[in-house]
Amino acid sequence: MGTRMTAPVIRARKVAHGDEPLVMVTAYDAPGARLADDAGVDVLLVGDSLAMVVLGYDDTLQVTVDDMAHHTAAVARVQPNALVVADLPWMSYHVSVEDSVRNAARLVRAGASAVKLEGGAKRVPMVSAIVDAEIPVMGHLGLTPQSVHALGGFKVQGKELDAARALVADAEALVDAGVFAIVLEGVPDVVARWITDAVPVPTIGIGAGRHCDGQVLVFHDVLGLQDGIRPKFVRRYAQLKQAGTEAIAAFAADVRSGAFPSEEETYHLPAATAAALGAPEVVELYGSGASMAACSSPISAPR
Ligand code: KIV
Repeated sequence: MGTRMTAPVIRARKVAHGDEPLVMVTAYDAPGARLADDAGVDVLLVGDSLAMVVLGYDDTLQVTVDDMAHHTAAVARVQPNALVVADLPWMSYHVSVEDSVRNAARLVRAGASAVKLEGGAKRVPMVSAIVDAEIPVMGHLGLTPQSVHALGGFKVQGKELDAARALVADAEALVDAGVFAIVLEGVPDVVARWITDAVPVPTIGIGAGRHCDGQVLVFHDVLGLQDGIRPKFVRRYAQLKQAGTEAIAAFAADVRSGAFPSEEETYHLPAATAAALGAPEVVELYGSGASMAACSSPISAPR
């Protein structure tokens, strides 16, 4: 077991100080979390992208605190070395400060060590209250998917000077409220660089160019587990959708041809029991008499 990553350790990581860029990947279940943690990522984000990549919705607005807690618990059960950050879903921090703190606490009780929420200056009261409750908060600015309707679609943000200035002001407001890191999504690289230089906490980019203090990608995008929409910023490091489809097709072909399961993949009765039962296949497979002893193979490792 390696060293557990913490929010204060992440907070101190700036490329400008000579630190290595941070690596964050989303995770939604135990096998995914184990795979990414074994790969040595710094942060596992239980993102509300859960709605789209796992639950099949068209946007992130459909997931609830219950959904997020369920998946956060699955990720946390792996006891990863990476910091587990859980997304506060839409409407879990928009109604009142009290609600926001209670919902953040639910995700911590499910196993998160920090929460992430979207938005800038207008979310400062919520961020401050959650931080006051001793829960580390990660900010998220730029193309914030929970604002898809307000933004008029999944569009790059901060392209005009005023909008870029507003993003820098939002980042500074979040830092004053106590965030330990900020995700920058879908912003031009120069704007991301401007924000990264302006704030003392690390920025973690997704579609924000190379000048951030770290990068995040969605698990299913990194592994090529889906072949639908592919944003410009996604780099696929494997083609698991194709490999998985081919593997399942091979399984189906083996079942249909009778090639699966083989004798090695089958539990057998001890020969004497089979013979006493008069099982016809014993005779068919092993003949009668002495050779039956060879097929004694008790179930020893139930799965
Ligand atoms: O939910 C998510 O996957 C995210 C990342 C895109 C940063 O918020």
